[in-house]
Amino acid sequence: MADILMHTESGVCTLTLSRADKKNSLTNSMYVELELALRSAQQNPEIRVLVIQGNESVFCAGNDINDFTENPPNNLDAPVFKFLETLIAFPKPLIAGVCGPAVGIGTTLLFHCDLVYAGDNAVFSMPFVNLGVCPEAASSLTVPSVMGYQRAAQALLLGEPFMAEAALEVGLVNQIVPPTELNAFVQRQAAKIASKPIRSVIETKRLLRGHQLSALQERMREEAKLFTQMLQEPAAKEALNAFAEKRKPNFAGL
Ligand code: COA
Repeated sequence: MADILMHTESGVCTLTLSRADKKNSLTNSMYVELELALRSAQQNPEIRVLVIQGNESVFCAGNDINDFTENPPNNLDAPVFKFLETLIAFPKPLIAGVCGPAVGIGTTLLFHCDLVYAGDNAVFSMPFVNLGVCPEAASSLTVPSVMGYQRAAQALLLGEPFMAEAALEVGLVNQIVPPTELNAFVQRQAAKIASKPIRSVIETKRLLRGHQLSALQERMREEAKLFTQMLQEPAAKEALNAFAEKRKPNFAGL
């Protein structure tokens, strides 16, 4: 079965992450699919809003950790970075529905969404320091800008998870909904936007976000270069081996 499901109805295109056995972690081929889906949604005049969601128990466990070892990103042409370039510049409204874990890019991509709704079981984390790498997806810029510096430092330097209530309080999440109702709720919100005049919607998003675009792109690329280098260094190797061996990493001396 496809790992990304794409469904379009009444102007709303919904992308559903569907790799439940691996907690919707994202492989290179999924990034390629996501980028293609975003590009086609951008160009298709019938599509007025894009939704990204997981299932009731997991949104996304971040990058597939085995891919970090077997097919690591080498440069800015890597599928993950091409996906991020497209996501950051996506001109139509993006709405996310998040239940369960949202790890790494599963959280950092949300800062490029316009509306984020969460189940009360949502858990957000950006554990880059625990993996011996650095922030990605321009999160070193977006996280402090949305959550404030001290909370960003807590989330990114400790890499500890935070729950839906905390995400609501800091402004990452718009509203918390019971997990069983989340995807239907998100569809209703998307339908409301899809019923509005498209030019008003797109110009509003451009005015809200456009001034940040080049800074976000620049930071995403700066982080990407560092991230790809750090992935080859001893701390990341130890973290990836530890994940494969289902043990805690030992960063002594690293
Ligand atoms: N990459 C590859 N496989 C992953 C994965 C990832 N990011 N996240 C989970 N999986 C796999 C597990 O290895 C396991 O596979 P197995 O059944 O073959 O052993 C399966 O998905 C289920 O994961 P499990 O850890 O048993 O589920 P859980 O409900 O106890 O925990 C998470 C869910 C998301 C909290 C946990 O899996 C996790 O922390 N994953 C790693 C997240 C991460 O560090 N991502 C990278 C961020 S940059």
